[in-house]
Amino acid sequence: MAEVVDVRDDKGNFIKMKKYDGRYYVTNFIGNVKDHLAAIDAMSVRDDDTFILTYPKSGTHWVYTIVSMLRTKEIIYRGSPMFLDYSDVETLDKLPSPRVFATHMTFDFLPKQVKEGKGKVVAIFRNPKDVFTSLQIFSMKWDTAYMETIIKITWESLYELFMDGRIFYGSWFDYMQSWDKVRREHKGNNIQYLIYEDMKQDLMLHVRKLDSFLGTSSDTEFLETVTDKCTFRNMAEKATKNFTPSEQWKKHTNNKTLPIYRKGEIGDWKNYFTVAQNEHFDKVYMERMKNSTFTFRFEG
Ligand code: A3P
Repeated sequence: MAEVVDVRDDKGNFIKMKKYDGRYYVTNFIGNVKDHLAAIDAMSVRDDDTFILTYPKSGTHWVYTIVSMLRTKEIIYRGSPMFLDYSDVETLDKLPSPRVFATHMTFDFLPKQVKEGKGKVVAIFRNPKDVFTSLQIFSMKWDTAYMETIIKITWESLYELFMDGRIFYGSWFDYMQSWDKVRREHKGNNIQYLIYEDMKQDLMLHVRKLDSFLGTSSDTEFLETVTDKCTFRNMAEKATKNFTPSEQWKKHTNNKTLPIYRKGEIGDWKNYFTVAQNEHFDKVYMERMKNSTFTFRFEG
């Protein structure tokens, strides 16, 4: 069973999280964690289901929007995805096809049928300095009344927790390590790996790649339209206006807007990291990523 814990810094700032089996989860993860993980494991998967896997702030909404457009053939901004993490499985079971889910959990926590090769998985990864920057700024946008249950922590404290993995969904480095293992061991061909920085460089190429991976057979004109609608500028402008009623964002953010589309750039971390933090980060990165099959660009 999960326990609710406060991870505090010496100024009294804290993140409230659920902790289960040595891992940290956000407080709105369903129930006692244990039962929900078991329900996800046993979940019934359809051939045209897509599961988008990301460490937080790595481009979840971006890929979700592209995949939804390709799957449905409709140019509609659908807001935020249904997360496996925050919806009970009975609700997920009732959703019409094609279903596009997201999760911040690692591949190991997907339904058993997915791990056996059913449905499709799209995983997107982003350089961790921009991930951290995006996460910290995002955290500050929560309304104070609601934030207490989620996050309230300074840049320095969050940096410490992020680096040593005392954070929801764990350390980014452990997350990447788990994917290296999947790359080595997973036998199915139902995973598409994407890198945020590469998508920024050539979005059309990646939209085409996704279309081919999903088997959605779109024509070039449609792929061009999806590419255009999913540029940062268009998503920041149009998708932000398109809240679905079920979305909680409006209620819980301090300026009542969707806090997702901030800058969408590579290298914004340079405006926030101190020289010392950057040196420390590089050292840890070199050590933790030395055997990884993933490489990242930290500049645009
Ligand atoms: P920044 O805070 O650096 O701007 P997630 O959806 O996983 O929460 O990720 C949010 C991050 O993805 C934000 O990063 C957001 O701006 C960026 N993002 C969203 N849509 C994007 C797009 N179309 N192109 C590039 N980046 C995008």
